[in-house]
Parts: sequence; structure tokens; C-alpha cells
Amino acid sequence: MIVDILSDLHLDFYFKPHLTTPENVSSFFEPIFTNNGTRTIGDILIIAGDIGHYNAQNIEVLKILQKKFYNHIICVLGNHDYYLVNGEARYSFENNSYNRVENLRKLINKEKNIYCLDGDIVEIDGIKFGGCDSWYDDSYMKRYFKQFDTNYINLLWKEYINDSRLIYGISHFDTISKIEIKKLENIYQKCDVMITHVNPSFDEEHIDKKYHNNQTNTFFTFDGSKYFQNGTIKYWVFGHTHDPIEYEIDNVKFLCNPLGYPNESGYGENIKMKSFDI
Ligand SMILES: [Fe+2]
Repeated sequence: MIVDILSDLHLDFYFKPHLTTPENVSSFFEPIFTNNGTRTIGDILIIAGDIGHYNAQNIEVLKILQKKFYNHIICVLGNHDYYLVNGEARYSFENNSYNRVENLRKLINKEKNIYCLDGDIVEIDGIKFGGCDSWYDDSYMKRYFKQFDTNYINLLWKEYINDSRLIYGISHFDTISKIEIKKLENIYQKCDVMITHVNPSFDEEHIDKKYHNNQTNTFFTFDGSKYFQNGTIKYWVFGHTHDPIEYEIDNVKFLCNPLGYPNESGYGENIKMKSFDI
């Protein structure tokens, strides 16, 4: 089975709501999925979070992509999928980001052959895919900037990270981490492929060079070592950072392949599809 990998679609940066048509969506993604006609599209597409800011558009696009290109699509949600970006969203979801993600998961899981994992597992042709949104923690700061305490990290978060302004219902950088880590506990010893939005290694070796020695790396990573060292995981797919990354620890392969924002992806033209055979 060939599993294709992508994350950080940020769909609303690519498609205006009234132009989110099957024709537009297909003609944008076809060259990406086929690397401009040079590869055969895989059986399954993993999307490791940050689908887009609007639930209605997200589900519309996922349905189009599954119908046209993939037998199955498996995703988790990213920090941007928690954002309430305007008054309408804040009104509909009662100023609570958890209501938004719950609604999006429901919309996705209602569809046949599209799955949004939330600390559970879907088995396809004998391969078990587990996943959850996941969240960042203070592990990077604790290793590389030991002198700072949790209060400092929270101030840093409030100053530099949009999550603190656009996610409603949390006041601390690691509120969601505490929720998500329990979901990982449930699945890490039962799945072949793990999907999270956040990079499970906070080692600088596994972070793009241009960000080295940067305190905000703590908001892009968490300590997943317990799970990849003691689990059944063969592949771990993640996103969140907008640079492609690949590394290997103890026979577990880690893969990140973000689309990112239009200025980063050249409107999709700079993206090379990643996949693995399992
Ligand atoms: Fe993103």
C-alpha cells in the first residue's frame, strides 16, 4: 500500500469560498499529487493537520480529494483548525475552539473513507493508522534554555504565537498538550503508523537549521520519545513546521511534508509529494 503524505494545507489561503469547486480543487492538487505527472498517486493520503480556517470549506475539499484521487484520506487537526478567525466563527462556536474541532471531526467522520483520528485507530488492509492532533510542550526550553520557568514560556507564547489569540477557551501554552498526551497513551502500542500535527522530537538535529537556537521551537515540538521508543510505530507523520523534514530514530521513520502558505509553496509549484510503501 502506498501512503502519500501532506500537511498544513491552509486551504482558505488558496481557495475563495465561492471558488471552492471540484474543478478548481482538482486542477490545483493534481500536479501536486502526481509531481507534475511523473508519479502515480498513492492509495491513501495522510493530512497531518492545519487543513484550513473554515470547517465548511475543509469538508468540501476533503470530499473532492477523496472522490477524485484517493481510496482513503486520514487526517488529524492542527492548531489552525482550532482558530476562530472571525465574528461568525466565534458566534457559531460560542467562543470555544473545542466546539469547532468537535464539529469538524464530526463532519469528516460522517463521510465514507475519510477519517479524522482523535486518539483512535483506523485499520485499512491490515495496517493500523493511529493519530491525534497532539500539542507542543516545554521540552525544548527545558533542554536548551533551562534558565527560564513556565511563566516565562507562557509570556513568550502570548507575545509571539497566534494560538494564544485565536484559540478560544485556553489560557496556557500547554493546556491542549495535557489533553492530547492521554490520547497518544491509548494508541502508541497498537498502531503501525502514527499521525500527529506536531513534531515529536525536540532535538535540534530534527529541526530545520534556520530555526536553531530559537526559543519558539518549543511551540513546534514535544517530547514523544516514550511513544516512539516503546511503541509499535514504524512511521510517524507530522506537520506544523512549514519545512519538509525526514529523520529516523531506532528504526522509526519520521516524515513531514507541508504544503504551507502560497508564498512558501509557490502556489503549490515547489511541493514534492512524499510517500512510503507499507
Ligand atoms: Fe501550518
